[in-house]
Amino acid sequence: MEFFSLVEPHLAQVNAMLEEQLLTDNELIQEVAQYLLLASGKRLRPALVLLSGQFGVSPEPFQAKRLVEVATAVEMIHMATLVHDDIIDDAVLRRGMPAVRTQFSNAVAVLSGDFLFASAFRLFSRAGDLAIVELAAKVVHVMCVGEIYQNMDHGRIATEEAYWKRIEAKTGFFLETSCRLGALATGVPEEIQVPLARYGHHIGLAYQVVDDLLDWLANPEKLGKAILEDVAAGVYTLPIIHALGQPAYGGAVQEILSAAEPGRHVEELRQILVQSGALDYAKVQAEHHIAQALDMCGQLPASPARSALEELAEFVLAREY
Ligand code: IPE
Ligand code: IPE
Ligand code: MG
Ligand code: MG
Repeated sequence: MEFFSLVEPHLAQVNAMLEEQLLTDNELIQEVAQYLLLASGKRLRPALVLLSGQFGVSPEPFQAKRLVEVATAVEMIHMATLVHDDIIDDAVLRRGMPAVRTQFSNAVAVLSGDFLFASAFRLFSRAGDLAIVELAAKVVHVMCVGEIYQNMDHGRIATEEAYWKRIEAKTGFFLETSCRLGALATGVPEEIQVPLARYGHHIGLAYQVVDDLLDWLANPEKLGKAILEDVAAGVYTLPIIHALGQPAYGGAVQEILSAAEPGRHVEELRQILVQSGALDYAKVQAEHHIAQALDMCGQLPASPARSALEELAEFVLAREY
């Protein structure tokens, strides 16, 4: 991933800081922390923080340190949400390894997720800027609401409008906020913060649509998590919602979803999603948001950071993991 090269040294500092922040004298939590550090994930959100921070006014050392702290704390929030999300979704694999809940237990996953959240906020507060802490709290608040909506819709057909609202809360706002937090950490002027935040919002929506598509299409080895899990977990994403709305296919989809164990018919469902063009439809929606993200880049000053954000946008569409 080319776009990482610009912030590579900072990302190395993020990894080191993660390790340092997760140190504790509780041996169980320490074991979980070490386990989580083994498989690192793509570090997309810290990359967004770091790249957004590059538009800051003066790259003085204090700001550089603060930027790395914020990027690290953002990844800790992400890790916490994944550890908890896998409990809710009954997921077995994460980042190519057994999920924390599988390797340890649900109880350990709840507690270590909380530990990660608390550690993230300890680090955010170091920035000494209430706006940063407040925004970080808001992002967790919004994500919780998104996951609660999804849970309430469990096994229920949502409208497309409800889908967009849900993924905005789950992912759109987090990626938007990652950009915003990076910008706040280095004092990026408001007129640059606005397109950065809009960029993050569109990237975030596209990112979740693609994640939902990958659940149907990915090679699970590459993806590092199991596929065909959303329907089995009662989570109906954009392709399903779209196919349901088509007269020629809606009935068949409905029938499968009403079966005692819809998870047993996912192959059949996948065929319908291909034939009905529902997977293509979702891809076009993701492309549409990436196009809007690229438009926002056009409002940023030309710089290596802007080019990296453009490359990152292309990656979101092309990714297979
Ligand atoms: C997974 O996020 C959860 C979603 C919001 C789709 P990532 O795909 O960024 O996961 P990692 O951090 O690379 O493992
Ligand atoms: C996760 O969404 C989004 C969060 C905010 C935790 P998913 O449930 O689709 O993510 P994966 O597929 O488990 O990574
Ligand atoms: Mg999940
Ligand atoms: Mg998913």
